[in-house]
Amino acid sequence: MKVLVLGSGGREHAIAYKCAESSKVEKVYVAPGNGGTAIENKCENVNISKIDEFVAFAKKEAIDLTIVGPEVYLVEGVVDTFKKEGLKIFGPGKIGAQLEGSKSFSKDFMKKYNVKTAAYEVFTEVEPAIEYLKTVDYPIVIKADGLAAGKGVVISETYEDAVSTVKSFIVDDVFKGAGQKIVIEEFLTGPEASILAITDGKTMLPFISSKDHKKIHEGETGPNTGGMGVIAPNPYFTKEVEEDFIKNIMNPTLEGIREEGFDFTGIVFFGVMITQKGVYALEYNVRMGDPETQAVLPLMDSDLVEVIEKALDGKLSEVTLEWKNGHSCCITGASKGYPASYPTGFKITVNDKFASKLFIAGAKEEDGELLTTGGRVLNVVAIDSTLEDARAKAYNDMKNVDFEGLYYRKDIGEIK
Ligand code: AMP
Ligand code: GLY
Repeated sequence: MKVLVLGSGGREHAIAYKCAESSKVEKVYVAPGNGGTAIENKCENVNISKIDEFVAFAKKEAIDLTIVGPEVYLVEGVVDTFKKEGLKIFGPGKIGAQLEGSKSFSKDFMKKYNVKTAAYEVFTEVEPAIEYLKTVDYPIVIKADGLAAGKGVVISETYEDAVSTVKSFIVDDVFKGAGQKIVIEEFLTGPEASILAITDGKTMLPFISSKDHKKIHEGETGPNTGGMGVIAPNPYFTKEVEEDFIKNIMNPTLEGIREEGFDFTGIVFFGVMITQKGVYALEYNVRMGDPETQAVLPLMDSDLVEVIEKALDGKLSEVTLEWKNGHSCCITGASKGYPASYPTGFKITVNDKFASKLFIAGAKEEDGELLTTGGRVLNVVAIDSTLEDARAKAYNDMKNVDFEGLYYRKDIGEIK
């Protein structure tokens, strides 16, 4: 088989790596890919990044399966376009992708299908939002409706702060359209978990749970990032929590997808919070997480390509996902300065003691060297039989990889 992976981050490197492991796969193209996919076994980058270019390439190369990494292409309708052209692609259509593309759409969906979630109201005008803010408890959570590159959620401690946030979203239009509709919702508290689940629209199979670390600094402090590290499985996601999740979140979500007739063969990523009152859905994403994927896929024993093919045939009910009986720890190596501005162009060195898996997130390959290009540059992923050992291995290997300004959190997977 020839597989095409769309995207260019650490997630896409991990997906390409996992696909390349399949004995059915002869070649994995990654468009546009990065310095890691440029040198990965069986992989080759294709320097294209627009939907019509993907279609033309898939036709020309007779690609057997396309897997979509980032949400933007899904929200733009890449799946609908591929299907119209008779090309096989894994991901939801444009309408189903609204579960991620619009917070008000997803919250209304959750409410309609009794998916357990925080109480909320939707606003498009400042005055009624301010009136509402006079009636709520603080802190309160304010969310931009549209895609805001992970920056669209603000937790306001006071009424004054909430009012200025609402104005910055709606009036100042800081998210360029994405925040002119807002969701104001109840503040919840508790550990979070990321659950990826694969669906063919009829059956949904959860992957092993994971835990992201979203803030730039230790102890979850400082600004939000795309993700500074992940452990899998998530120690807070116990058997009991899982049962609660399946009953009150996953199953009603699947029922909603079925009832609404979304054309949804893909991944639902549930961002959940484990509170004193049970598990709540915070959000849906309609693609694999980054860097959750980098931690989760290396623990998968099943052949990902075979599982995706089953899903595309509507036969996911025949599949049992197999997992390694271990733990993984993924640490993000970032450029100094990230998530604000940072310099790039530094050479990445990896010494021969390096024993983990290295996924590249933001670097290009040039004349056999890897040069940094992004904020999140790489992911070091180690697997072992206990979380402690996986952490120790990953942290040890952070010393075997380097570039100027390399920054990483020292507390990934530290459970207090
Ligand atoms: P979202 O994009 O909706 O997942 O929100 C991003 C982050 O904001 C989450 O991972 C949580 O840390 C936080 N968050 C979102 N909704 C809530 C809520 N209702 N209560 C507390 N924190 C929240
Ligand atoms: N790591 C969170 C996300 O992929 O959205």
